[in-house]
Amino acid sequence: MPGRPGQGAVVNPFIVAIDGPAGAGKTTVSQMLARRLGCLYVDTGALYRGVAVLAMRRDIGLDDDLGLAKLCENLKMDLELTPDATRVLANGEDITAGLRTPEVSMAASAISARPVVRAWLLTVQRSIGTKGSCVFEGRDMGTVVFPDAKFKFFLTADPRVRAVRRHKELTAKGPAPSLVEVERDIRLRDRNDSTRSTAPMAAAPDAIFLDSTEKNADEVVKSMLEIIREAQEIN
Ligand code: DC
Repeated sequence: MPGRPGQGAVVNPFIVAIDGPAGAGKTTVSQMLARRLGCLYVDTGALYRGVAVLAMRRDIGLDDDLGLAKLCENLKMDLELTPDATRVLANGEDITAGLRTPEVSMAASAISARPVVRAWLLTVQRSIGTKGSCVFEGRDMGTVVFPDAKFKFFLTADPRVRAVRRHKELTAKGPAPSLVEVERDIRLRDRNDSTRSTAPMAAAPDAIFLDSTEKNADEVVKSMLEIIREAQEIN
């Protein structure tokens, strides 16, 4: 469901692509921006996490391309888009609650390197993009999935700061790994995600870089809105 159009809502459908590494604040910023613009919010990491959960459940190796291809072929993945979350339904079962564990994060990073999974999810993502204006967050939104997106941002932050944020999020939910483990995982995922051969995490040449190391979500969203509004006024 789209959020209610906020101040500055624009009329023509458009896509905002927000890429960047884990913990840079993409989720908070993308949700806030989607609300302000009155458009759909799509967390594409949830899709990779959904495939990873199913592979783990079925004991499919995270590099078993045939097994992963078969899994995708028989998978009906539906999404429920709300302003606060991308809920994932796999063959009718809502699997959203199990998507955010550290194990699933690492498994999602591993399967996201498999071209067969990326190709399948490319279609899923592009079909959502036809539904109206959307803010998509991910790793390859501006480079591969929506190279013609009207607005492209690459949001980054110092890895230590990202680890502290992610650790805080995890401890708020219950028993969590130590900060050292969280930072190690974040650095490992950064490496996996940016060095894989298919659609690595990268900033599109025409993306605007924003660094959230010393900025809170409000400040980042304010910068984005200024850029978007300025472009809308010009066009
Ligand atoms: O954004 P996230 O942390 O929920 O993403 C989980 C993993 O999925 C991430 O390590 C890399 C992968 N991913 C991707 O390769 N491409 C995307 N567009 C989104 C996520």
